[in-house]
Amino acid sequence: MGVLGLACASTWSIQRVAIFVVLGLVLNLGVVCNGGKTSTFVRQINRSLDMPLDSDVFKIPPGYNAPQQVHITQGDRHGKAVIVSWVTVDEPGSSTVLYWSTNGKQKKAEGKVKTYKFYNYTSGYIHHTTIKKLKFNTKYYYVVGVDHSERQFWFMTPPEVGPDVPYTFGLIGDLGQTFDSNKTLTHYELNPLKGETILFVGDLSYADDYPNHDNVRWDTWGRFTERSAAYQPWIWTAGNHEIDCAPEIGETKSFKPYTHRYHVPHKASGSTAPFWYSIKRASSYVIVLASYSAYGKYTPQYVWLEQELSKVNRSETPWLIVLMHSPWYNSYNYHYMEGESMRVMFEPWFVQYKVDVVFSGHVHAYERSERISNVAYNITNGNCIPVKDQFAPVYITIGDGGNLEGLATSMTEPQPEYSAYREASFGHAIFDIKNRSHAYFSWHRNQDGYAVEADSMVFLNRYFHPLDDSTSA
Ligand SMILES: *[C@@H]1O[C@H](CO)[C@@H](O)[C@H](O)[C@H]1NC(C)=O
Ligand SMILES: *[C@@H]1O[C@H](CO)[C@@H](O)[C@H](O)[C@H]1NC(C)=O
Ligand SMILES: *[C@@H]1O[C@H](CO)[C@@H](O)[C@H](O)[C@H]1NC(C)=O
Ligand SMILES: *[C@@H]1O[C@H](CO)[C@@H](O)[C@H](O)[C@H]1NC(C)=O
Ligand SMILES: *[C@@H]1O[C@H](CO)[C@@H](O)[C@H](O)[C@H]1NC(C)=O
Ligand SMILES: *[C@@H]1O[C@H](CO)[C@@H](O)[C@H](O)[C@H]1NC(C)=O
Ligand SMILES: [Fe+2]
Repeated sequence: MGVLGLACASTWSIQRVAIFVVLGLVLNLGVVCNGGKTSTFVRQINRSLDMPLDSDVFKIPPGYNAPQQVHITQGDRHGKAVIVSWVTVDEPGSSTVLYWSTNGKQKKAEGKVKTYKFYNYTSGYIHHTTIKKLKFNTKYYYVVGVDHSERQFWFMTPPEVGPDVPYTFGLIGDLGQTFDSNKTLTHYELNPLKGETILFVGDLSYADDYPNHDNVRWDTWGRFTERSAAYQPWIWTAGNHEIDCAPEIGETKSFKPYTHRYHVPHKASGSTAPFWYSIKRASSYVIVLASYSAYGKYTPQYVWLEQELSKVNRSETPWLIVLMHSPWYNSYNYHYMEGESMRVMFEPWFVQYKVDVVFSGHVHAYERSERISNVAYNITNGNCIPVKDQFAPVYITIGDGGNLEGLATSMTEPQPEYSAYREASFGHAIFDIKNRSHAYFSWHRNQDGYAVEADSMVFLNRYFHPLDDSTSA
């Protein structure tokens, strides 16, 4: 949650307040009908505890200047490049990555190293190296720390972009570094559906919940997630816990730790900032949006998204997926309507371009909507109730990674009609694309066995197979 310091607030907040007031008045009319399912699953509601600094998951790898916090993400538009990032602590050392495919010859890529200061914290040496011109659908091994203590990892490149390529995404949000976070990651890793890439919907380390935003907790989070993020790409979305703006201790530049530690290929999609960008991967087109950057009319994000959506060729990438941190449709009493002003700006485009699904975090619980839109509303006509809309996306809140702030257990009652399923439990989800017409979505709560699905839905593609796929009668 965390508060955005005034000194760092941008102009959109003023616009947002205005829209809020007006919508607040109209929405008071409310939706009175009962919606889908509110799960009665009994769960632990105590706040989660962060794993202590000497936990096994935070162990520093042995050896002088050994690379730590190794993580990868897609490095280009189509999936033929990978950005490899890691931290060394004793000295800068080499930014070289050695890599090879089975039976292929060893190659090397060079990158850059940088550090940053935050109040009285000084970061280690943060390396970012992009490996390019990889072959699709190929296993690559790679080594970092070549001058001192070498460490070897591997990853699979995605299949070539095309309409019928099956591909499996994992979904995690608001992870943090508690014992519950560790359970979520473990359950994802052991899920037999085997996610190949994580779509991460924001709020990574929660370091800002500590005194002076103790950036040591950014390092521990990097070491904790390495066991997955060094082997498969995590596609990053910026959440409010990435803002890290703290004017009270002289830190007035927003997103400093996040942008130094986590690079994304935003330039490849013509974006001017790392907070909004897009990638193509297998049969999907993933658009990442920024809840905490300006999105009003004429702003860079607005102009970019307008052009971006018109570029999507569904014959090439049938699945149009959007990630953002703050949800537009959320029926919990947490962060209620925080996403509303962005919805007002962008929702008509999502309907026009038939977005398949929108994944968000922020609310520490799970919720899946029906296909609904609220685009008829225009201040003067009062048509403010979301309606069933077969061209609209399904909205899924997956902010249930397990961070130290605890679960969002209080829900608005009655459950709105557009809400298909909601439950306040920690977990992760899988979006399993089968072909151009079908994808299988499942949500997995941490209390169950690895293969158990607490909620699921067969997605029918909005472009190729736009039949009614709602799960309610
Ligand atoms: C929750 O916290 C209370 C008070 O600290 C404790 O008595 C209780 O056992 C805890 N419940 C669970 C399920 O851990
Ligand atoms: C930073 O300052 C805080 C108190 O203001 C102190 O507790 C902490 O030890 C300091 N950390 C470093 C690395 O100097
Ligand atoms: C985290 O999970 C891993 C894998 O299940 C386990 O080996 C490790 O002991 C756990 N660590 C903590 C601190 O819970
Ligand atoms: C869209 O993609 C298909 C399949 O790759 C291709 O044949 C077609 O030319 C593309 N259309 C445009 C307008 O680029
Ligand atoms: C608002 O919507 C109504 C119909 O729902 C329409 O008649 C009116 O022209 C719209 N107003 C504006 C400013 O677009
Ligand atoms: C697409 O996948 C679904 C689900 O696996 C399957 O039922 C359907 O037949 C497939 N369609 C084609 C054209 O292969
Ligand atoms: Fe958040």
